[in-house]
Amino acid sequence: MESFISRIGGKRALRERILAEFPAEIGRYIEVFGGAGWVLFARDKHAPMEVFNDIDGELVNLYRCMQHHPDELARQLTYLLNSREQFFDAKAQLEGRGLTDIQRAARYYILVKESFGADLRTFSCKARSIPHGLESFPAISKRLEQVVVENRDFAALIGTYDRPDALIYCDPPYHGTERYYSHLFSEEDHRALADVLHRAKGKVLLSYNDDAFVRELYQGWAIIPVERANNLAAKAGQSKPYRELIIKNY
Ligand SMILES: C[S@@+](CC[C@H](N)C(=O)[O-])C[C@H]1O[C@@H](n2cnc3c(N)ncnc32)[C@H](O)[C@@H]1O
Repeated sequence: MESFISRIGGKRALRERILAEFPAEIGRYIEVFGGAGWVLFARDKHAPMEVFNDIDGELVNLYRCMQHHPDELARQLTYLLNSREQFFDAKAQLEGRGLTDIQRAARYYILVKESFGADLRTFSCKARSIPHGLESFPAISKRLEQVVVENRDFAALIGTYDRPDALIYCDPPYHGTERYYSHLFSEEDHRALADVLHRAKGKVLLSYNDDAFVRELYQGWAIIPVERANNLAAKAGQSKPYRELIIKNY
C-alpha cells in the first residue's frame, strides 16, 4: 500500500529496490528512521514483530492517532479547504499548548499536505484537497494495528530491539541534507550510527546517499550503488540521475 503522507527523503521511488535486498526470513523488523514509512507500508507484514520509530514527536503523534483514532482524525479533517490562512493557523497552533493529541495530529497532517515538498514550513500554493486521502485512513490504521510505534533516538531504539533474528532498516537523513528535518543530525550522529550498527547482532540494511564519507563508514560491508531520477533536477530540465547506496552487513 501507499503511505498516507509525504516526507523529505521518502523512499517511494526506491522501495522495490530496497525490498529486493531484504532477507527471506525476518523475525523482527525494525524501521529506525521511519518518516513516511514507505518501506513499512510496502508489504502487509514484514515480520511477526514490527517496530516503527522516528525522533520527530509530532510525526509519531500522527502515527499513534492514525493507529488508534482514524475515524476521529478523519472527521476533524473533513470539509477543510486548502488555504494559506489555514496553513499558518495550523502552524501557529502547533507551536502553542492546549490541543488534544488528535487535534495536534490533524494540524500536523495539514502542514504535511499543504507545504511545499512536505517541508512543513512553506505554503505550497497548490490546489490540494485535504479530504482527498481520508478514505485511506481505515486501511492505514489496520496496517499499523500490530506495529510498535516508538519515538526515540536511533541508539536507544536499536539498543532495545536488536536481536540476532532482526532486520534493522535505517534510512537516516542523508549526509549533507540533515537541515531539512526538525531534529539536527550531525556528522557525529552519522559516525555514532555506524558505530552502533557495526556492533548490531541482527542484520542491518541502510539506504544512503552515495558519498565518500558514507562509503568509508561502512567499509567492508556490501555496498550496492543504485540510481533514480532526480525529481527536482528533472523539473528544472536536467536529467542527471541521483546516486544512492543500499548497504548491508549480510
Ligand atoms: C530520510 S527520512 C526517512 C524517510 C522514510 N524512510 C520514508 O520513506 O519516508 C529520515 C527520518 O529520520 C528522522 N530522524 C532524524 N534524526 C533521528 C534520530 N536521531 N533518531 C531517529 N530518527 C531520526 C527524521 O525525523 C526523518 O523522518
